[in-house]
Amino acid sequence: MLACHIPEKQGTGRMILSNIRKLIVHELSSVEGYINPPDALVYLSILEHLREHALGGGIAEIGVYFGRSYFLLKKIASPEDRVLGIDLFDIGKMSDGISEQYQSFLERGDRLGLPVNEDLLVVGDSSDLCPTDILSRVGEVRFFRVDGGHTLPNLVADSRLAKETTADHGVIVFDDTFNPAWPEVTVGVADFLRDNDEAFSAFCMTKYKTYLCRREFHDFYRAAIQQAPHLRVFDQTETQFLGSDAIRLHNPFGRAFSMNS
Ligand SMILES: C[S@@+](CC[C@H](N)C(=O)[O-])C[C@H]1O[C@@H](n2cnc3c(N)ncnc32)[C@H](O)[C@@H]1O
Repeated sequence: MLACHIPEKQGTGRMILSNIRKLIVHELSSVEGYINPPDALVYLSILEHLREHALGGGIAEIGVYFGRSYFLLKKIASPEDRVLGIDLFDIGKMSDGISEQYQSFLERGDRLGLPVNEDLLVVGDSSDLCPTDILSRVGEVRFFRVDGGHTLPNLVADSRLAKETTADHGVIVFDDTFNPAWPEVTVGVADFLRDNDEAFSAFCMTKYKTYLCRREFHDFYRAAIQQAPHLRVFDQTETQFLGSDAIRLHNPFGRAFSMNS
């Protein structure tokens, strides 16, 4: 069993946090996917910081797979939040036009007590979407996870979509940056940052994830990471990424505190 130190809160806040802790440490490992507990704690810290500052907006993820990170985001979000999932959903055998992946994703949601709102799922290629496809469903996005296709054309399309739909205070998380298995992801994120360096900056980097925001919010999010109670166990160092001062978080638990990625 994984040890996870998440400080307690009082009353209702304490119960919600303990449920999120249970999901992160015990339940998410039953869902195939690519978010590990340290990044789950970064997501939690960012979304709590936004809530504390009353900064709202939708949540979107390109690349749901079987829902590991989607269910985490659903759990952290408030019940009234709109969480949009976008995926090809074409893995496994098709039956009545529904893939095994899609069916299994819905079943896991029911099992976790986080039923999927199918009105907020887009089944198809994210490159075919335009900003209104997202804005009309969830409004401007406060947290956008990009983890769909991992080629350079995918990154060009998905980063543009994220840029055009995130709120001014929104965060874009790119998955698999600096992962040698997917070199074009890093190229795509670097191109995006160079093309948009007046508007966007990287404020945090973990082993294979890079977190961006608009420059006006750079210090706001650095403070969120530096002050987050959930992240006290991480070593934090400074790094530079294309003109941004980013906080590099080191996973103190190494392999013992990671699931798949
Ligand atoms: C690495 S998995 C996502 C993992 C998931 N975010 C998690 O943390 O568990 C990538 C997903 O992206 C989807 N995908 C690949 N290319 C896509 C595209 N062009 N449009 C939409 N989804 C795509 C795949 O079907 C797959 O489910």
